[in-house]
Amino acid sequence: MSTIKERGITFPADVVTRSNLELMKTFDIRDDDIMLVTYPKTGTWWIHQVVKQILASEGIQDEKYLGDFPNLLEFTIPGKGPIVELFKTAPSPRVLATHVPVEFLPSGLLGSKAKTVVLMRNPKDTAVSTFKFWQKVPEVKTPESWDSFVEQYLAGDCPWGPFYDHVLGFWKLKDHHNILFLKYEDMKKDLPAEVRKLSSFLGRPLSEEAVQAVVGATQFDSMNKTVGQKNGLWTRKGIIGDWKNHFSDEQSRAFDDQYRDRLSNTGLEFEFE
Ligand code: A3P
Repeated sequence: MSTIKERGITFPADVVTRSNLELMKTFDIRDDDIMLVTYPKTGTWWIHQVVKQILASEGIQDEKYLGDFPNLLEFTIPGKGPIVELFKTAPSPRVLATHVPVEFLPSGLLGSKAKTVVLMRNPKDTAVSTFKFWQKVPEVKTPESWDSFVEQYLAGDCPWGPFYDHVLGFWKLKDHHNILFLKYEDMKKDLPAEVRKLSSFLGRPLSEEAVQAVVGATQFDSMNKTVGQKNGLWTRKGIIGDWKNHFSDEQSRAFDDQYRDRLSNTGLEFEFE
């Protein structure tokens, strides 16, 4: 994978350019924008579909032109150009998404009335999902083995930066009133509860019937049929705890040590099963 490095963070050069990152910084935020933030492989498509369905229950259709490409603000869509440019003229409310670390966000976002949703997932399942994804995507140089991947991941040598820097960068903003933090594991365990929380946060509370409709359209089996069919890249197993099928005891301990090192006393924690 050819990469660029910007302020110490690695990005895949085939989809993220320096100029996109520059344009993102000055991207004009509207008060009714919804910004979805995820570290790669933590449920980007899932949260996006949930928000889309919440809007759909009010009859609002999300932008159509992105097709089966993730609508990450930092991306260039082959043949269509930088998403930051495409979004300039998109109708409100815009559903924006990004994987960038906090310091790369549009500078006007946090001072605006726009709502930001940060979705996080436990690092072990995120690592497995990343490894499997890299194996499927030809542009990414696949690690020689799971073992070498684990070393790379623990060293933080990942596109969009190390996992912990990313989540902690956002977690510092945990008391910001326009940011909602959600976890993949909570969505998996009780999707209706998280849909209710999210829709209220967005100022679009749903009837119980509408909650059930959103849940029906966004649970794994449904998304496996819709989003999953696009190119086989965006859904895989969709479970908590797949890491147990991949990690050796030693690797698991190394992850646990890093987890304790980085997260103790931060108030941020994850469920692993
Ligand atoms: P796995 O590889 O562990 O299955 P992203 O969209 O950020 O690339 O994240 C992809 C991960 O989210 C994949 O995890 C995928 O299966 C999972 N996923 C996608 N839709 C989901 C859903 N409706 N429910 C649970 N997991 C989902």
